[in-house]
Amino acid sequence: MGVNNVVGILGNTYYGDICVGAIACRQEKRDGGGVKLYIMTLGVLAPYRRLGIGSKLLQHCLDICRQDPGIWEIYLHVQTNNDEAIAFYKKFGFEISGIIHNYYKRIVPPDCYVLSKSLVPQAGGSSSSTSTS
Ligand SMILES: CC(C)(COP(=O)(O)OP(=O)(O)OC[C@H]1O[C@@H](n2cnc3c(N)ncnc32)[C@H](O)[C@@H]1OP(=O)(O)O)[C@@H](O)C(=O)NCCC(=O)NCCS
Repeated sequence: MGVNNVVGILGNTYYGDICVGAIACRQEKRDGGGVKLYIMTLGVLAPYRRLGIGSKLLQHCLDICRQDPGIWEIYLHVQTNNDEAIAFYKKFGFEISGIIHNYYKRIVPPDCYVLSKSLVPQAGGSSSSTSTS
């Protein structure tokens, strides 16, 4: 995959003393040029879901990416049965760009989708998804 860990992005959301949500990302070199941001993990504690916390954390990353024209793409892996996360990411314009069988060693199903979103402005002025590694 040509991983080149350049810099990480971390975000946390607190409700009082409780950390109810977190995101961690790293930058990787893209094979075709530019940099892609890999979302290593994004999670919100179950009682605090559907309150917009995940959206705020992801938007925080997207805002950082948009300030850096060197970041061309953002992507992540998600277990194939994780309908909630897939719906969440699709709302932000991510698309399924691949499937990796037996990606996970200790959970069932072991397969994951690759979800990706292009951050390169298209001719029409918006960004759309592209395939990824
Ligand atoms: C995916 C996750 C981070 C979403 O966090 P969240 O704070 O609940 O998300 P938001 O409240 O910002 O939801 C934004 C939108 O995503 C979609 N969405 C989120 N959860 C959904 C669900 N369970 N079912 C369907 N759509 C969902 C909805 O469109 C939602 O908008 P709405 O509430 O106005 O309908 C959270 O469910 C989670 O932590 N899951 C477990 C960990 C995980 O799977 N992480 C993703 C892999 S990295």
